[in-house]
Amino acid sequence: MKPVEIKKDIFWVGAVDWNSRDFHGYSLSPRGTTYNAFLVKDEKITLFDTVKSDFHDELLCSIAQACEGTPRLDYIVVNHLEPDHAGCLDRIVERFRPEKIFCSPMGEKALRSYYHHSQDWPVVVVPTGTSISIGKRTVQFIETRMLHWPDNMISYIPEDKIAFSSDAFGQNWASNERFVDEVDSHALDTALGDYYANIVLPYSPVVLKTLDALAGMNLDIDMLCPDHGLIWRGKDAVAHALDSYRQYALQKPTKKAVIVYDTMWHSTEKMARAICDGLSDEGISVRIMSVKHNHHSAVMREVFDAAAVLVGSPTHNNGILPMVADVLTYMKGLRPQNKLGAAFGSFGWSGECVKIITEHLTGMGMEMVEPSVKVKNLPSHETYQACYELGKKVGAAINAKLSA
Ligand code: FEO
Repeated sequence: MKPVEIKKDIFWVGAVDWNSRDFHGYSLSPRGTTYNAFLVKDEKITLFDTVKSDFHDELLCSIAQACEGTPRLDYIVVNHLEPDHAGCLDRIVERFRPEKIFCSPMGEKALRSYYHHSQDWPVVVVPTGTSISIGKRTVQFIETRMLHWPDNMISYIPEDKIAFSSDAFGQNWASNERFVDEVDSHALDTALGDYYANIVLPYSPVVLKTLDALAGMNLDIDMLCPDHGLIWRGKDAVAHALDSYRQYALQKPTKKAVIVYDTMWHSTEKMARAICDGLSDEGISVRIMSVKHNHHSAVMREVFDAAAVLVGSPTHNNGILPMVADVLTYMKGLRPQNKLGAAFGSFGWSGECVKIITEHLTGMGMEMVEPSVKVKNLPSHETYQACYELGKKVGAAINAKLSA
């Protein structure tokens, strides 16, 4: 890859992973992704983050080009230790022998446990409030613990009004474009929301605190550079990224419900459709998502801004079907807030499905709308009516909640 000069003497030296589809091992990335690293040419040539180890050679090539053939790194700033950003740190340290490696206090702990042979590395811990000089520029550090790991931090260069924000404000977006203003804004927002719903959502309270802290520091930012995806260029774009994160973190529900289900012989599926009719008659926008046809991260993207989650499964071996359990486990980890819940399903003999689903949803703090609906073998006319009524009841509860 060619480096891209994003500001005078500041270069994007990252890598584009066009083929990434399984982001971080658990979430879909249908557009691929990028691993962004940045090089600042000042008295101390400083690299901010590295790339996934598969792309080490590309990083070396970009550093060499940005340094016009005589590659040198004096400082390395490690904003995040996750292996897609620090995966080739050891090889980069080995090759360039930097004078200093900067990371957050939690970053140092992560660094020592990833790189067991790092005892002689010149690591300097930079808690929030620390700043360093790299020549004409200073770099200020702001820890953003749990956004998305304990070690994350933001590095800010006031002279250039640029912030390297690590996971925050990223998107999975492989392209030859580098800036958000070069692509379709609607698709960009979708990608930003996807990333938030699947990576950042559980840390929404930290997002709100970080946004407040950034506002309190009065940082003048006109370029925001996340570790994944496109760069936010210009004050309007930066404000859009910050505002979007505030809205996401508040988790205000919209007039929307998601019905998630799996089915063996189509009874639970038919129940899902009858529930949808009830919701529709209350004016609710509904997504019916079979877990066989929708990856758990696609389900989560829809659950993210929905007001209600209705989950259905047949009873299977005294439990629920495994793919429903997968979605519920994934959803619980992402800690969605402010949701109504409902359960439904079919059974042949023991019939635990509704009880188990209810336990999962209440375990996530969802307020259950009752009565849930359970049917032995095939739904009858009465079952469809009960499902329709459940949909109506959830729809009415959504309307009441949104108008409260
Ligand atoms: Fe791709 Fe938490 O990093």
